[in-house]
Amino acid sequence: MRVGMIGWRGMVGSVLMQRMREEDDFARLEPVFFSTSNIGGQAPTGAGGLAPPAASDGPTSREAKNLDTVTSRQAQMGAGGRARAGTSGQAPVEAGGKTSTGAGGGAPADARDGATLKDAKNLRELAACDVLISCQGGEYTTEIYAPLRASGWRGYWIDAASTLRMADDAAIVLDPVNRRVIDEAIGRGLRTFAGGNCTVSLMLMAVASLFQNGLVEWMTTMTYQAASGAGAAKMIELVNQMTRLTDPVRKSPSENALEIDRMTIAAQRDASLPTQEFGVPLAGSLIPWVDREMPGGQTREEWKGTAETNKILGLAPTVPVDGICVRVGTMRCHSQGLCIKLTRDVSVEEIEQILARGNQWVRVMPNNKESTLHCLTPTAVSGTLNVPIGRIHKLVMGPLFLGAFTVGDQLLWGAAEPLRRTLRIIREHMGA
Ligand code: HSE
Repeated sequence: MRVGMIGWRGMVGSVLMQRMREEDDFARLEPVFFSTSNIGGQAPTGAGGLAPPAASDGPTSREAKNLDTVTSRQAQMGAGGRARAGTSGQAPVEAGGKTSTGAGGGAPADARDGATLKDAKNLRELAACDVLISCQGGEYTTEIYAPLRASGWRGYWIDAASTLRMADDAAIVLDPVNRRVIDEAIGRGLRTFAGGNCTVSLMLMAVASLFQNGLVEWMTTMTYQAASGAGAAKMIELVNQMTRLTDPVRKSPSENALEIDRMTIAAQRDASLPTQEFGVPLAGSLIPWVDREMPGGQTREEWKGTAETNKILGLAPTVPVDGICVRVGTMRCHSQGLCIKLTRDVSVEEIEQILARGNQWVRVMPNNKESTLHCLTPTAVSGTLNVPIGRIHKLVMGPLFLGAFTVGDQLLWGAAEPLRRTLRIIREHMGA
């Protein structure tokens, strides 16, 4: 199966490449690497020895360590009889944080013969592939997809961008929750697949089972979204802002909180603080606006809640999902506070059991301080495929109102992982 990789050098593309190497995906396919800026340059040098992804793109060894921490804590808590991790206290953990030592399988043909990067805008080269995976972004999709299809290409298009998500002839992929929808789509000849919005995908990895059990009348999602969702340049600016914020205290150390606050806010409001990307300081602050304005007061990120949730799960009638989306100063984990109006009064214990059965990555955390602090934070989750959900309890509004909090890695389940798995599903269907 000839698979064209486009946008593999960017942040999502790098995480995708790393996961494909970790899971030995390259051994079973013939990759062709495309470029928009370095045509004729050297293609990556093989799944068994690919160059490491750009610095900061993949999980670091520290993040990998955090994965161990989460796993062992879950095991400990499972032993204590409180934690429910996946379907057992020892649910399998698939690491996004494994050190990438190469896949061990055969190097891709392109690498073996010293292949060069092909032109990502050459329709003939693209059309020679059975599958194309694009992490190049929406503008590229807008420019290339329609002409490529118009040229008669009938291959599979897998896209990280939002451009095609809501098209009738495209499915949104998140196979741990909608494998049936994907299989049916392939079965009826659909050949265009898009990864979902990261916030929606991460929310569904945690709570899709409640929707699938008909328990959700409506849901609000109040989000805490990482800088990575806005792109690599934003992550860099956030860290630069952090450094600038703490500079004054490093230069004039103080133990006086009000004095430290004064220095910090002065640095934050200083015109020289780098804000080209976000427009305002994010470090030490937050931005309650993600994506562009929509009619009715929502932002587009908020609009996607209902639109994509219902499409991914194939729900009818539609279940409303709405809230306020907020950018916060975390690096790559999106968190969400959920309020679910249940369709009937179900006990918290039963809710937890339904959630734990949802998929092998969801981690149901007991609603206590210890578990919350150690397992339900971006620090604990970053670089892993775990999707913990905790703080689960009935709200004071009444027995039909459920509160919960969930965290997930925006670059893994929120972006790269569903694409990688869709490639595998297509390969299975093609018998390749
Ligand atoms: N729109 C998301 C965000 C990115 O800005 O965080 C991933 O879909």
